[in-house]
Amino acid sequence: MTDRQNRQVAVFGAGYIGLVTGACLAELGHRVVLRDIDPEKVRILRAGDVPIYEPGLGDMIARNKERLRFTLDLGEALEGAEVAYVCVDTPPSVSGDADLSRVWSVVRSLAGAAHLRAVVVKSTVPVGTGARARAALDEAGLTGTGYVSNPEFTAEGRAVSDFMNPDRIVIGSDDPAAAALVAGLHEGIDAPVVTMDVRSAEMVKLASNALLATRISFANEIATLCENTGADAMEVLGAVGLDHRLGPHFLRPGIGWGGSCFPKDSEALRQSASNTGFHPMLLSAVIDVNNIQKRRAVQKLKDVLGDLAGLEIALLGMAFKPGTDDMREAPSTVLASRLAAEGAHVRCWDPLARQGEAEPWLSAARYASPDEALDGADAAVVVTEWPQLKDVDWARAAAAMRRPVLFDGRNLLDPVRMRELGFTYMSVGRP
Ligand SMILES: NC(=O)c1ccc[n+]([C@@H]2O[C@H](COP(=O)([O-])OP(=O)(O)OC[C@H]3O[C@@H](n4cnc5c(N)ncnc54)[C@H](O)[C@@H]3O)[C@@H](O)[C@H]2O)c1
Repeated sequence: MTDRQNRQVAVFGAGYIGLVTGACLAELGHRVVLRDIDPEKVRILRAGDVPIYEPGLGDMIARNKERLRFTLDLGEALEGAEVAYVCVDTPPSVSGDADLSRVWSVVRSLAGAAHLRAVVVKSTVPVGTGARARAALDEAGLTGTGYVSNPEFTAEGRAVSDFMNPDRIVIGSDDPAAAALVAGLHEGIDAPVVTMDVRSAEMVKLASNALLATRISFANEIATLCENTGADAMEVLGAVGLDHRLGPHFLRPGIGWGGSCFPKDSEALRQSASNTGFHPMLLSAVIDVNNIQKRRAVQKLKDVLGDLAGLEIALLGMAFKPGTDDMREAPSTVLASRLAAEGAHVRCWDPLARQGEAEPWLSAARYASPDEALDGADAAVVVTEWPQLKDVDWARAAAAMRRPVLFDGRNLLDPVRMRELGFTYMSVGRP
């Protein structure tokens, strides 16, 4: 093992990103201390369990337990650390700007840790945060510590694999030695390292998420046009994506994007533009299309069922996408609350979703299986494309539902077959 592969690293924040970062850095050979302020999280991790669902993470943590420690104690995290990673959450504030209070709290807590060679911010932050962090570090006496922006592009549900096999590693720094140190931490990963200034690195992350969200909103807008003209959006977008200039990714129509990143990051980018008096028209439209898309599902149900008051509606899938338990800004929560506003009774099924933002729905009517949620329901909505939903005995479900009405918000099922089974079947952009 080379020196570059045996660094002492402190990671602040043991959430989705911090845990994956810490575990993967340990896998690469570094000694990692993960610090969180949530005693329950640290207790679970110390007991050998993982507080979130992320495929492969538990095994990786177990495999590297000699090189991974979890603590609530700041001193323990910083002792001997050469690099400090900031992986705390940056949720939306009331104004839509990113709330950076947790980032500043970590930066302030580094006062006195002048032995650090680099402070690395992985949290998604507005452009200009690095400059403010640099000033704060200088004020705290860390004038010799380099500042690095190292945005994270992993997707939940495949974060471990994404971290170890990234498309690129973006390193933004005005300090070549710190940039080289952080690039070196990734030795063992085969990916291009793209170095640039801090502001540009911060913008890469926001621009990437905004473009991914744009592609989905575009697909959804085309899907609506297909519904109005009799074209099939799956055929259309499938063929569009075969153009090598465009590619197939993020062109699938559905119920709208959600999750812990796209909504907050696109809104934060929009607000940062608005703060300078600039109205980002395209980005604003992308966000609007998405907001409307989530509501169209309810209107489609009303078109078939009329008044929804008193009806039992099953939401199949609550997490914002399959393979995760994360409920942050999941479209299901908008759907559930719109349905409740129409007077419907909402039932939910999801194999993993944590209470979080879905607390009112999951605790009131969480069903153990799709079958149970479907029995006696007046309508169902496929909200998350969990593979389990493909295996549902839909012939049985058609008979067991009070009315076999299904809105497939993910185009998961075959329209011809579903109609043959007797469903009033609706999907997104398909005739
Ligand atoms: N989740 C993703 O898929 C993803 C992908 C790319 C980037 N990001 C960005 O990474 C950042 C972290 O996201 P996340 O999903 O891991 O959030 P998270 O909420 O899962 O985890 C954040 C953790 O930080 C801890 N924390 C808060 N203040 C702290 C402090 N002062 N010291 C130590 N720990 C503290 C919290 O207790 C929590 O455990 C965000 O900025 C997010 O936008 C997330």
